[in-house]
Amino acid sequence: MKPYSLTQLLNRITTELEQDKRIFDIPVSKFFKADPELDLSIEVMGHKVATPVGPAAGPHTQMAQNIIMAWLCGSRTFELKTVQILDELEIGRPCIDMETVGYNVEWSQEFKLKQSLQQYVMASMAIEYLKQYPPLLEILGDTGSHVFELSVGYDLKGIQSPQVSDFIDNLRDADAEIEKLRAELPAQFRDHKFNREIVTTATISTFHGCPPDEVEDIVKHLMANHGLDVTVKLNPTLLGHETVSDIVNNQLGYKTIELVPSAFVDDMQMSRAVDLIQELHKYATDSGRQFGIKLTNTLVVNNIRNLLPGELAYMSGAPLHVLAVKLLAILEAKIPHIPIAFSAGVTTENFSATVGLGLSPVTVCSDWLKPGGYANGTKMLKQLQIDMKKAGCKTIEQWVQQCSSADRYIDELDMQFYHFDNNSKLPKKGDKKLELWDCSSCNLCVAVCPNNAMSRIETPENMQDKLTKKYQYICVTDLCNECGNCETFCIDVGAPFSIKPAYNIDGKIKNPDQLS
Ligand SMILES: Cc1cc2nc3c(=O)[nH]c(=O)nc-3n(C[C@H](O)[C@H](O)[C@H](O)COP(=O)(O)O)c2cc1C
Ligand code: SF4
Ligand code: SF4
Repeated sequence: MKPYSLTQLLNRITTELEQDKRIFDIPVSKFFKADPELDLSIEVMGHKVATPVGPAAGPHTQMAQNIIMAWLCGSRTFELKTVQILDELEIGRPCIDMETVGYNVEWSQEFKLKQSLQQYVMASMAIEYLKQYPPLLEILGDTGSHVFELSVGYDLKGIQSPQVSDFIDNLRDADAEIEKLRAELPAQFRDHKFNREIVTTATISTFHGCPPDEVEDIVKHLMANHGLDVTVKLNPTLLGHETVSDIVNNQLGYKTIELVPSAFVDDMQMSRAVDLIQELHKYATDSGRQFGIKLTNTLVVNNIRNLLPGELAYMSGAPLHVLAVKLLAILEAKIPHIPIAFSAGVTTENFSATVGLGLSPVTVCSDWLKPGGYANGTKMLKQLQIDMKKAGCKTIEQWVQQCSSADRYIDELDMQFYHFDNNSKLPKKGDKKLELWDCSSCNLCVAVCPNNAMSRIETPENMQDKLTKKYQYICVTDLCNECGNCETFCIDVGAPFSIKPAYNIDGKIKNPDQLS
């Protein structure tokens, strides 16, 4: 992949907004503008953020434009794509399967550490620029504050390596990177005093099987050596094989989800987790730092659907929501007063109630890879505003008081909504073969692509006599990692990213013969 430079990124944003009233193909009508009568802010690890939602680590936080798209649709906490020492990993393709609940085989960032650093700093600078960009101010109103959270994996040795250490230091104080990028800014913004402290918090994404002692050492290392507040993202295996199997296979009826019994033995056990969380909370308090947990990472399962490569896949979406709230109810009872972040099967339907559980923040991945894409963030927030107003609540604190606690929430949960029967319908497909030009124009490839690699253009004038459709769909292949998500949702039969005309990032067609 070859991401945008800062100049290209800002040019694209300003030109597209002016000419088409869109940014990265999202129409301005789908951006989020907060209702000034409500205060949606929450506190995330000591920082006030203007809304309770944001993207979970994954495909929505890898490149600068992804983070900006999420921000335009109301996100204010960004769990950055996990970085690790192995920055030349070959990821099997396709890596995302959102046909039903959600499966992936992504590990970590696909860029070199230096490129990831640049993408995160660029995103931070671009948002600061856009917050003051007059045409956007009118559309978005007061956007309020936001935070970026680092996500690191997967073992202590890698995290302590000079490469990852430098990466973290350069996000803790991004002055050097900002100065490298400053010349690319529009003249009137070149003297702007940018925020240099891009992150103050890290989430540890522990890989399945990471020993608890190592988790402890990583947390202490990040706090002591990098001055970071730390969140540990826990795995749903913590519930134990019996409970997970009962919920997923029996209560929710997913006979086709095959658990991996050894993962439950290798992963952290509940009693050790409770001790560890208490110990790390105390360590953080004694060191003047903050400590929290995140529920949950994906569930490792046998890859029996044969859509993704490899023996194992990582499950997300509807069934994970039930597992994560079950875990939440248990942990809240055992260890109250620990800040808890959430990422598990959040959709517009359950967003308000999930926010009502007092989580900080609520993050999303799978739902924004489905039709609607990033704009589902706007839908979630608009629904929350409606629900809060109906209940007479003006702040999230009041909303939380009004809503169910986790143990009541799990008892009251509409299990049918999360059941296999409600989550097994395949995306709609016609019988038309996807062609280079003209297609069913459903626009779904554009909405579900996390990278905005699929784009809609007006049919070129010199081709209007040969083509029937007003719009054509193209793939900016520099931005595409062949994740496969556009193929899953394409109404026609075929993979848009490989069949549609290929453009490079400068807007030039890669094979000019395709135009004739
Ligand atoms: C395609 C994809 C890639 C992901 N990559 C990461 C990652 O790099 N690091 C991480 O900690 N979690 C990763 N996750 C897990 C998500 O951050 C999230 O915790 C999980 O998907 C549950 O939320 P959801 O049900 O809203 O998807 C990924 C999930 C998906 C679907
Ligand atoms: S164009 Fe398709 S395959 Fe490429 S990144 Fe986007 S969704 Fe994935
Ligand atoms: S390429 Fe497929 S998904 Fe994209 S607009 Fe055409 S029919 Fe829809």
